[in-house]
Amino acid sequence: MKIAVAGTGYVGLVAGVCFAEKGYDVTCVDIDEKKIAMMRQGISPIYEEGLEELMQKNNERGTLHFTTDYVDAYRDADAIFIGVGTPEMPDGSANLSYIAAVSRQIAEVVEKDCLVVVKSTVPVGTNDKVEQFIKDFLVHDVKVEVASNPEFLAQGTAVHDTLYAARIIIGTQSREAEELLKKIYEPFGLPIVSVKRRSAEMIKYACNDFLALKISYMNDIANLCELVGADITDVAKGMSYDERIGARFLNAGIGFGGSCFPKDTKALKFLAREHGYQLKTVEACVDVNSTQKTRLFMKAKERMITFSGLKVAVLGLTFKSGTDDLREAPSIDNLKLLLGAGADVYAYDPKGEERAKALFPEGKTEEGTMKYVSSITEALKGANICFVFTEWAEIKAVTPEEFKENMHTPLVYDGRNLYHPAKMKEAGVEYYSIGR
Ligand code: UGA
Repeated sequence: MKIAVAGTGYVGLVAGVCFAEKGYDVTCVDIDEKKIAMMRQGISPIYEEGLEELMQKNNERGTLHFTTDYVDAYRDADAIFIGVGTPEMPDGSANLSYIAAVSRQIAEVVEKDCLVVVKSTVPVGTNDKVEQFIKDFLVHDVKVEVASNPEFLAQGTAVHDTLYAARIIIGTQSREAEELLKKIYEPFGLPIVSVKRRSAEMIKYACNDFLALKISYMNDIANLCELVGADITDVAKGMSYDERIGARFLNAGIGFGGSCFPKDTKALKFLAREHGYQLKTVEACVDVNSTQKTRLFMKAKERMITFSGLKVAVLGLTFKSGTDDLREAPSIDNLKLLLGAGADVYAYDPKGEERAKALFPEGKTEEGTMKYVSSITEALKGANICFVFTEWAEIKAVTPEEFKENMHTPLVYDGRNLYHPAKMKEAGVEYYSIGR
């Protein structure tokens, strides 16, 4: 079986590598020559645990290929997986131009019957349009069907989430398409839920938005906990024993970021509005998240007369640990505010520095100064205030005494509830977190 994968971001690359690992002959296609050259040498353009090892292994055994030549990759493929991005448009809708471009290429070059499988997150109904679009532009007399196969991997655990997924969702309109997808996934030995295409598309949004809602709900309750003297970590613990609620995604904090929840909540809100419906729950989730991101800065602003000329230690920049991704990271909103208020920011992140530098170059801005440091201690030394934005293990391991000894004034605003309030107090650290 010959598989082609369009797009080598988190979704496409990880899927391609995992299909190759299961023994398929896989060709990953991307328009970026430099990226392709890197991947041919087994170098991953993204940081994901275990990914490079699998890339190198499958490159060597000849099951994994990388190319910019889509004609060669698609022409005689049995299945073509589309994993290109669907970024957010200014109005909140999903940008489908990359999906359309790949669909057009497929239509123009396929020379045998094939199944096009859309892995990218797309608004309900998109797969119908993709199928029609491909049919409209088909050059050869072949049969092309489109299936939906949404991806549920999370960044930081992408390879594990793909090889050991909780379930595979396949959305098809014909028995042949269903059978082929089931066969492709057979070697994974995972539960398969087979539904119609539109339901599969909706399952993806419903899952992401439900998880985002869960987080916003916990953040909302956390904010109320602060007002009434309850502790959100204890509340979450008490809730977690109820199997109907579940123990995961109950962590209150600085709000969700990343390339998925912010985009997918807005996209579903937009889709509903387009159909004359207001998805009130999801709209509330988006609202809660947007204020949550800068809640700690606002709290600090009440406490400080100025940030100008102060050394501000920032621990963690990525939207979560285990990734170098900064998309929609709460750190971005906060850094803008801190620099705008004249702070001298000393930021540390074990993986995110390079990407952060593209957004906040090192040096003096009109207001504040941005500096990247290579250790937590360097960030904390002589600092007047510290913000914690990401839950990296090494940041979690900082002791109250280290804050106290290194900082000029031990004042800590923790967006991830990493430390024990009583222990911080005992050590003489003025400590603020979320919902406690
Ligand atoms: C998310 C979903 O978890 C995946 O199932 C989905 O496939 C993916 O989006 C996608 O659509 O591609 P991801 O964005 O990589 O994955 O990361 P998550 O682990 O879900 O975290 C998202 C955000 O929520 C992060 O900013 C994280 O810090 C925050 N979060 C998570 C919380 O604030 N509290 C929690 O309890 C859990």
